[in-house]
Amino acid sequence: MNFSVIEVLSKEDSLFELCKQIRLDVFVEEQGVDKDSELDDIDAYAQHFLITWKDNAREESVPVATMRIFPYDSPEQSGKLVLKLGRIAVIQSFRKHGLGRKMLEVAEQYAISQSFKHQKPGVFLYLHSQSDKLGFYARFGYSVVRSADQLDNLSDGKLTEEPDERGLKSLEFVEDGILHVRMAKYIPCVPIS
Ligand SMILES: CC(C)(COP(=O)(O)OP(=O)(O)OC[C@H]1O[C@@H](n2cnc3c(N)ncnc32)[C@H](O)[C@@H]1OP(=O)(O)O)[C@@H](O)C(=O)NCCC(=O)NCCS
Repeated sequence: MNFSVIEVLSKEDSLFELCKQIRLDVFVEEQGVDKDSELDDIDAYAQHFLITWKDNAREESVPVATMRIFPYDSPEQSGKLVLKLGRIAVIQSFRKHGLGRKMLEVAEQYAISQSFKHQKPGVFLYLHSQSDKLGFYARFGYSVVRSADQLDNLSDGKLTEEPDERGLKSLEFVEDGILHVRMAKYIPCVPIS
């Protein structure tokens, strides 16, 4: 495979600059998000990931995708491990080649490792999806949720009703000038005995 997934050590790591550049190209230049809200304080404590592609002809590695994950404090969910996934971006010319899927797989592996580290029976991956990306996350098992404080339905295995078009509209909110919905997935982590 010509792709490598890299865990960026911190915001001070020079690789973070590559993640930042992808985000500026995708969210600021392409989607019109304000630069000051794109690069926020969360970057200092989030875990950043970078995917690079090895261009064999030129013998160089090209940064092609990024995302970040960080612990999400939810007062109503005390005791539960909730990680928020965000800033998922694949550069335009590399989309629809499975990199979005790859990043969600990496996010789950990371979430499982955090669940074991914190000795929790499972972990919620929570995110704000742009409304037109809902189908992408839904493909990988994410459900629309009303709020981050009500994730229990997912872990209890209770069926959360898929909102119809009208219901969905009522759950939408604007963030950075773009319509979003809240989505989440529960990943149970049973230790091997
Ligand atoms: C959303 C994004 C990360 C998807 O990345 P990608 O590399 O194109 O996705 P993949 O090629 O891995 O697609 C995986 C599957 O999701 C589907 N998919 C991709 N984008 C989709 C969308 N917007 N809606 C519905 N399904 C989508 C693909 O068709 C594919 O389906 P398949 O498994 O049946 O073949 C990418 O389009 C992107 O970076 N967009 C700009 C930034 C952005 O909006 N990020 C999300 C913010 S919430």
